[in-house]
Amino acid sequence: MLFQIIYWIIIGLILFGILIFGVSFTQSLINKVPYLPSRKKNVQIMLDQITPSKNSKIYDLGCGDGKILFQIESKFGIPGIGYELSLLPYLISKLKTLLLKYKTKIYFQNLFNANLNNADYIFIYLTPSIIQKVSNKILKECKLNTVIISNTFKVPNLKLIKTIAGTNSTKIYVYKK
Ligand SMILES: C[S@@+](CC[C@H](N)C(=O)[O-])C[C@H]1O[C@@H](n2cnc3c(N)ncnc32)[C@H](O)[C@@H]1O
Repeated sequence: MLFQIIYWIIIGLILFGILIFGVSFTQSLINKVPYLPSRKKNVQIMLDQITPSKNSKIYDLGCGDGKILFQIESKFGIPGIGYELSLLPYLISKLKTLLLKYKTKIYFQNLFNANLNNADYIFIYLTPSIIQKVSNKILKECKLNTVIISNTFKVPNLKLIKTIAGTNSTKIYVYKK
């Protein structure tokens, strides 16, 4: 009997894992941007580009499992704001928030719903398929001098401040509105 219960719990967990993975994979295809966490060295470089004050508003648009925002909260004590549409990384971010008691807020929402008019820093690691649209949103909503830090992909129409060599020939681009 006990063996049967354990058997069905394991089967249930496997099916649940497959379901979450399948939903997340489908969402990645629909969003046209896969969940690919920034590499450790690139996160370090990106964090080195900011000098926030305690009231700074820091966003990660398409924040994955929240690793950039959580590291910012640990380093500077400033909770950030993230938007993520893919279920698996979103659930991982929620788990981390619960277990490690982060105050960073992560929304299971389309990043195009974010209101960026108070943003001081925006992190992105998005592909060219949506980056033009994100640039338009930044130009329309952000105040002057908002800093935008993009992993790997250039953001059109913003003022480029700095390009830094990242891991595996990637680059980190720092812009200002
Ligand atoms: C390459 S990952 C980067 C994750 C994280 N920013 C990092 O650097 O580790 C891009 C993430 O953006 C999410 N994404 C893509 N389009 C989105 C949208 N319209 N709204 C919210 N999240 C989106 C994807 O689900 C994916 O997790």
